[in-house]
Amino acid sequence: MRNVTLLEIYSHPITQKYVKRSGLAHAIATAYNALKLSIKYDVNPDLATKAAFLHDIGHYTWYKDGEWDFELYKENDIHAIKGAERAHKLLVRLGEDPRKAKQIALAVLLHTDSYLPDGQLERNNLQKVVALADELDEEPNGQHHYRQISNEKALQQIKHLDALVDAHIVEHIYRKSV
Ligand SMILES: [Fe+2]
Repeated sequence: MRNVTLLEIYSHPITQKYVKRSGLAHAIATAYNALKLSIKYDVNPDLATKAAFLHDIGHYTWYKDGEWDFELYKENDIHAIKGAERAHKLLVRLGEDPRKAKQIALAVLLHTDSYLPDGQLERNNLQKVVALADELDEEPNGQHHYRQISNEKALQQIKHLDALVDAHIVEHIYRKSV
């Protein structure tokens, strides 16, 4: 029913490099939030958890004189754009259905509006779920990006999430068909 699991995504060197850079604990917590919200908003839990897990994969760290520079970040950051492209490439490489890869990439692209000119962003339900899931795990001053998790615990939670998604996707498809 799913071409690609979270475990396969998690295990890929690209994920190990870039998701760890922006915070593995945050990515996993956001995926858990997205799973819960996907039930509430009736969106596909497979797409929601993948987009949530990968939403910050495009992050770059903005430093000036060895310190994180928030102003520099605000001015130059395009992590959602870069992340959408990176997530899409990774998913396609792993064998994801191209329609799903596109939906996931768009949810990554629109999880924040921080890089957009002021205006209104109309999100669909999947995109809403991912943005809300991210917000729920945010801590002041970007501390959520630095929260630590051991590789062992991360692996255990990723496998747990895969099992939950497998269970919920059956219900989701059933609800859509009645
Ligand atoms: Fe985030």
